[in-house]
Amino acid sequence: MERKTGRYVVAGLSVLLAAWFSNAQAELTLQESLGKLLFFDENLSEPDGQSCASCHHPDAGFAEPDTHLPVSEGVIPGRFGGRNSPSAAYAVFFPEFSYVNGVAIGGQFWDGRAANLVEQAKGPFLNPVEMANPDKATVIADIQASSYVTLFEEVCGPIVDIDAAYDCTAEAIAAYEGTDELNKFTSKFDYVMAGQARFTRQERRGMMLFNGRAKCSQCHISGGMMMGMGRGGGMGGSSDPVLFTDFLYHNLGLPKNTEYPLDQQPADAVDLGLGGVLNVAAENGKFKTPHLRNIALTPPYMHNGVLKTLKEVVHFYNTRDIPGVWNPPEVPENVETRLLGNLGLSDRDENAIVAFMLTFTDGYTPEGSSGSGHGHRGRHGRR
Ligand code: HEC
Ligand code: HEC
Repeated sequence: MERKTGRYVVAGLSVLLAAWFSNAQAELTLQESLGKLLFFDENLSEPDGQSCASCHHPDAGFAEPDTHLPVSEGVIPGRFGGRNSPSAAYAVFFPEFSYVNGVAIGGQFWDGRAANLVEQAKGPFLNPVEMANPDKATVIADIQASSYVTLFEEVCGPIVDIDAAYDCTAEAIAAYEGTDELNKFTSKFDYVMAGQARFTRQERRGMMLFNGRAKCSQCHISGGMMMGMGRGGGMGGSSDPVLFTDFLYHNLGLPKNTEYPLDQQPADAVDLGLGGVLNVAAENGKFKTPHLRNIALTPPYMHNGVLKTLKEVVHFYNTRDIPGVWNPPEVPENVETRLLGNLGLSDRDENAIVAFMLTFTDGYTPEGSSGSGHGHRGRHGRR
C-alpha cells in the first residue's frame, strides 16, 4: 500500500514535470513573440481589419476559417484570390523550393512560387486581394504605431531602412511559424504512433487502405507507420515526423471550380500551377502535395476548393476515371494516371480512409492522461 501510493506520487510528479517541460519548450523567443504579434495584428492591412490569422486561423488548422467559400476574401470586400488557403501550420517542413533535372521539390504556395517561409511572408501584406497595402512603408508605419514597436526594435534594430525592417518582419513571422504553437504533433495519430493511444477498428482499416490499396501514402508519405513502434510523430522529439507529403508536385486531373466567386474569372482562364511559375509545359496543372495534418479542419479541399468534404476527396481518387462521374480535368496534360482514378474501393473502404484522416487533428487527449494522479494506473503504476 505504502509503496503503491509512493509510485502514484512519483507518477503524478512526472506528469507535472512533463507539463512544465512542455510549457518551457513552448516559450517563445523574442523574435518568435514578435512574429506572433505580427501574425495576429489586424492593423497591418489597408484598411485595418485583416491579419494573417484571418485566413490562417488557429481554430481552423491555421487555414481559412470561412469554409463556405472555395477561396478567401481580401480585406477589401468583393476581392478574392483564385486559390484555397492552405494551412500555415507545418508549412515550415517543406524544404526550400528547387527544380533540378525536371523535378520540383518543396517551396511555399500551391505552386511553389515562394522559395521558403520568409519569402512567402513578404507577399500577403502587399497583395491587393489580401492585405492590400500600397507599399512596404505603409506596413512599417503601422508597426511603428503599434503597441509592440519596442519589441520590434529590440529584435530588428531601430527602424531606419524600410526594406530592412520589412525583411525583418517577414523573418519574425517565419520564425513564429516554426514554433510548437503551429506544429503541435498532438493528434491521435501521433499518440498511436507513440504507443499511447489505439485506433478504432475502422481507423486501423483506413490506415491499411491509405498505405496499401488506395495508394495515398505513395504521395502523402506516412513514414514507417508501424503501429505501436513509437516511430513517427514528434512526440517526445522522436525521429522523422510524419507529414503526409512527398514535397512533390502532381496533376490530379481535378475539374475546374466554377462556383462563386471563381465564376467571375474569364471562362477560359486556366490555373497552370507549377507550370505557370516555371513556364515549363511539362509541369502544367501540377500542384504541391499538401501535408494532411488537421485536414478535418480545413474544408473545402484542393487548390481550388472544388471538393467539399473528405468523403468527396476519397471518392474522387477512387472514381476519377469512371466515365460520367466527374467533369473533365481543368488541365488535361500531365495528369497522374498510375496512382489514382479507378481504385475499386467500396463505400465502406472510403469511409474507413476518412475515419483515418480524422485522426490527424491536433489536440487529442489520450485516455488516462487527464492530469490528476488518478487515471494513471496502468501505464505509470505498473513500472
Ligand atoms: C486573404 C486571405 C489570406 C491572408 C490575409 C493571408 N493568406 Fe496566406 N495564403 C492564402 C492563400 C489563398 C494561399 C495560397 C495561395 C497560392 O497558393 O497561390 C496562402 C498561402 C500561404 C502559405 C503557404 C502554405 C503552403 O503550404 O504552401 C503560408 C505559409 C501563408 N499563406 C502564410 C501567411 C502569412 C504569414 C500571412 C500574413 C503575412 C498570410 N498568409 C496572409 C490566403 C491568405
Ligand atoms: C499522385 C500523388 C497523390 C496521391 C496518390 C494521393 N494524393 Fe492527395 N493530394 C496530392 C496533391 C498533389 C494534392 C493537391 C492537388 C491540388 O490541389 O491540385 C492532394 C490533395 C489532397 C487532399 C486535400 C488537401 C487540402 O489541403 O486541400 C486530401 C484530403 C488528400 N489529398 C488525400 C488523399 C487520399 C485520402 C489519397 C488516397 C485515396 C490521396 N490523397 C492520394 C497528391 C496525391
